[in-house]
Amino acid sequence: MTTSQFTAVAIPKTRFNEIIEHLRFNFFADEPLNSGVGLCKKGESHLELENHCLSTLKQGYSRMLVTDDGTKEIKFQIAGLTLNGITKKGEREEVVRRLATIDDEKFKIIFGLLYQVNDKVDLFKKYCTDELFDCRILSVDEEFRGRGLANILMADTIDIAKRAGFQVMKADATGVFSQKVFEKHGFKTEAEIMYSELPDDIRPALPHRSLKLMAMLLN
Ligand code: ACO
Repeated sequence: MTTSQFTAVAIPKTRFNEIIEHLRFNFFADEPLNSGVGLCKKGESHLELENHCLSTLKQGYSRMLVTDDGTKEIKFQIAGLTLNGITKKGEREEVVRRLATIDDEKFKIIFGLLYQVNDKVDLFKKYCTDELFDCRILSVDEEFRGRGLANILMADTIDIAKRAGFQVMKADATGVFSQKVFEKHGFKTEAEIMYSELPDDIRPALPHRSLKLMAMLLN
C-alpha cells in the first residue's frame, strides 16, 4: 500500500470506540513514557487515559488517517490519528486538582512530567495568546509505521489548525520519532526534560532521550 492510498479525515462520534481500540493496541503501550513506566500491556484498557482521549475527541479537532482502496464498499481501516484539543490559559489549576484525585501512580508520573515540562515556559505569555492548539496524541498503527504516515497526519493537522484560525500549535513530544515529525513541520523546542535524569525504573528506552515541549506559530 502506498502513502497515496491513505486519506486524513475528521473523526465522527460513531468511530470513537474504534479510535480507543486503536489506542489500546498502539499508543497506550508503545508511547515512550507509557512504555517506560509500564502503564499498559498491548490491548489493555486504561480508564483515565481513555477519558482524557474521549474528552479531546469531543472537542472535534481530531483527525484519522484511513486506508482508501478506491471503492466505497469497505469500512476504512484506521492507520493512524492525531487527537487535538484546545488548551486555554488558566486551565492548569483545575487539571492539576483533578490529577491529584486519581489513584494510578504510573499515570500520575506521566502527567507530572508533562506538567513539569510545560511549566518551564509560559507559551501563553510568550506568544501573547489565550489558547493553544494542542496535538495531544500522535499515533500510527504499528503495522503501518516507518512509511511517512505521521508526516502526512501532521501536515493535515497543521492545516486544520490554521483553517480554524488558531495562532499557536504545541505538542509534548515524548520520543525521537515524533520529535523528528514535529521538527520537520516547523516546530521548535521550547523546553526539555532529559530522560537520563529520571530513575531507572521509569526511564523510556533508547533511542528516546528526552521529553520536548514543542511549539510553532501558525500564521
Ligand atoms: N527507526 C528509525 N527511524 C524511524 C522509525 C524507526 N523505527 N520510525 C520512524 N522513524 C523516523 C522516520 O525515518 C522519519 O524520519 P525522517 O522524516 O527524517 O525520514 C520520522 O521518524 C517519522 O517517520 P514516519 O514514518 O512519518 O512516522 P510513523 O508513521 O512511523 O509514526 C509515531 C511515528 C507516530 C511516533 C509512531 O512510531 C507511533 O505511533 N509510536 C507510538 C506512539 C508515540 O510514541 N506517539 C508519539 C508520542 S508524542 C505525542 O503523541 C504528541
